[in-house]
Amino acid sequence: MRIDILSLFPQIATAALAESIIGRAQQRALVEIHAHNIRDWARDKHRTTDDTPYGGGQGMVMKCEPIFEAITALRSEGCKVAFMTPAGAPFKQTTAQRFASECKHLIILCGHYEGVDQRVIDQLVDEEISIGDYVLTNGVIAAVVVVDAIVRLLPEVLGDATSAVEESFAGGLLEFPQYTRPVEFEGVRVPEILLGGNHAAIAKWRQEQSLGKTRRARPDLLA
Ligand code: ADE
Repeated sequence: MRIDILSLFPQIATAALAESIIGRAQQRALVEIHAHNIRDWARDKHRTTDDTPYGGGQGMVMKCEPIFEAITALRSEGCKVAFMTPAGAPFKQTTAQRFASECKHLIILCGHYEGVDQRVIDQLVDEEISIGDYVLTNGVIAAVVVVDAIVRLLPEVLGDATSAVEESFAGGLLEFPQYTRPVEFEGVRVPEILLGGNHAAIAKWRQEQSLGKTRRARPDLLA
């Protein structure tokens, strides 16, 4: 899979995605990630990427021309263009799974604190994506979240193939609690059921824990 991120602050994405599992996935060529500065496609002397809104109002609006030029230069046959915005559809584990399995080339456009000219959205963007009901200063932070969630699902990225299966949301429930040594810490013991080696009983306990946790923290997932 190839991912191109278009932002006014590409170095935020480059730095965040260079570490740990996603960084290793890039080194192993399991994914190709490029973060670009939209300003590189601005043609005027001052390399302007935004302007005041028609109709008046606060803030600036990102201009059409540099974004059109950037996407025209980067896009390939069948690629998808996503725009990060709090006004988008909620990003879910199922969205990450869909991109990971169906998309060979993803271009992610990131806004800054300002809006983007609607003609960009209407003519170039396939999906508007929000990572939650809050407003960030910079869409590139949301793009990093989206890229991380997608890339960890690509083949061979996670060491243990089951670790992407037995986790929160994959089965529609939150993950059960996990424990490791020592068996007792500050007077609190690991649940006895996990020490007995009865795999059927452990699976049943974990399922009950997942259900209880989901009921308490995210009842909306059960509705
Ligand atoms: N840009 C600013 N806030 C955002 C959010 N919640 N999701 C996606 N992009 C954003």
